[in-house]
Amino acid sequence: MTDIVAIDGPAGSGKSSVAKAIAQELGFLHVDTGAIYRSLAFAALRAGISLEDPGAVAQLAASLTQINPSPEIRTEKIGDAASKISRYPEVRANLLDLQRRFGLQSKTGAVLEGRDIGTVVFPEARYKFFLTASPEQRAKRRLLELQQRGEPANYEDVLKDLKERDERDQNRSIAPLIPAKDAVLIDTSDHSLEQVTQKIKDLITY
Ligand code: DC
Repeated sequence: MTDIVAIDGPAGSGKSSVAKAIAQELGFLHVDTGAIYRSLAFAALRAGISLEDPGAVAQLAASLTQINPSPEIRTEKIGDAASKISRYPEVRANLLDLQRRFGLQSKTGAVLEGRDIGTVVFPEARYKFFLTASPEQRAKRRLLELQQRGEPANYEDVLKDLKERDERDQNRSIAPLIPAKDAVLIDTSDHSLEQVTQKIKDLITY
């Protein structure tokens, strides 16, 4: 059976870097489920589908088979669009199978990162972690990431966008961003991502 490690948390909590490092350490597949929502949002915009039309976006979701590898899905605009479409129950339902298939395609194991991996996608995951950090710390990380990619951004705007996205992700009616009851909560505000990775490594025993 495939072993599943779930790493959930808000934008900028460090979950991507940590999930990648843990997957590499364990020799597991790394699955970034945010990239699935981003790929869908990107495809919807390209097809001229309104992000306010849940039925049309859900139909497109049903035909999605892979993650778009283009760096274009990593922009703030697409992140925001992904957050918007992710609040529709029918969109989430249509992406559920794809996320599970991605995780289970590895014979050994997979580290999945997202918002609802431990609560909805793989509630039976062997290990569940939920990373948090203060909005200010997350905005700083996000700003650095955008600057490294050459995207123009300033701290105040990034912080404002991040708070709006948190609000939407936490308050949607379906699969809101909340830790699973049996998840290990880790506040990454005052720790380097190397320290967080080490902490998780120490907790995983195979
Ligand atoms: O992790 P990210 O910032 O790339 O995700 C983009 C958006 O996708 C996020 O704001 C909410 C949505 N998302 C989700 O609802 N469920 C997931 N498992 C992953 C992402």
